[in-house]
Amino acid sequence: MALPEQLSPPRHIAIIMDGNGRWAKQRGLPRTAGHAAGAEAFRRIANYCRTLGVEYLTVYAFSTENWKRSAEEVAGIMKLLRRYLEEALRDMEKNRVRFRFFGDLSRLSPELQTLCHDAENRSEDYDVQVNFCLNYGGRDEIVRAARAFAADAAAGRINPETLTEESFSGYLYSAGVPDPELIIRPSGEQRISNFLLWQSAYSEYVFMNVLWPDFTSAHLDEAIAEYHRRNRRFGGT
Ligand code: IPE
Ligand code: IPE
Ligand code: MG
Repeated sequence: MALPEQLSPPRHIAIIMDGNGRWAKQRGLPRTAGHAAGAEAFRRIANYCRTLGVEYLTVYAFSTENWKRSAEEVAGIMKLLRRYLEEALRDMEKNRVRFRFFGDLSRLSPELQTLCHDAENRSEDYDVQVNFCLNYGGRDEIVRAARAFAADAAAGRINPETLTEESFSGYLYSAGVPDPELIIRPSGEQRISNFLLWQSAYSEYVFMNVLWPDFTSAHLDEAIAEYHRRNRRFGGT
């Protein structure tokens, strides 16, 4: 399964898991069926990332804007999340996935919040780290970080003059996680939709014309191959 050295995967891959609704619509199914198929795709790809030796996989599962959807759809997504986390907790030792959650979990049901905290606490020493973005928004993350920094400054714990890009990163949900080298968006949409605004400063974007539930390991290989064709200059020459 190992890829040749020149195609070795980046350390950190992020994915905007988009296209579940259209996948369901194509089949005359309710949108929730698309989300269930999307959850399957996530299981598949998380496993594959572990096989490849990817260190961090960050997935966009629910945005701060997704609450605009119908109560029925939101409830369906939350139910799938609950099911997934219960299963993840059960199979923790087999899968060796380490969980972290990026987002404001306080808006989730107490039950779901407990599952998230348990998943985080019980998986500390495992291999691949999955960062689950739940009720996550890039702007919200930056505003919260600014608020936390301002509180530290107001309390005299920190001198505002000493703030750097690096120390500010420490206030984000992603504290301690390296920036993603590669961000993949399936579904054909070509926009960021409030995902990792700070962390994506120099990420390579790969937009793909496949709906997330249809996403396979071959698509991930293709995105990694595309990533290797890019010339990353970081502002240099
Ligand atoms: C992504 O799929 C899942 C979530 C945003 C929760 P969508 O539900 O956005 O699927 P499309 O974009 O409508 O096809
Ligand atoms: C982004 O997809 C959020 C997730 C995949 C969780 P959306 O479907 O919400 O984004 P827009 O509305 O197309 O920009
Ligand atoms: Mg969408």
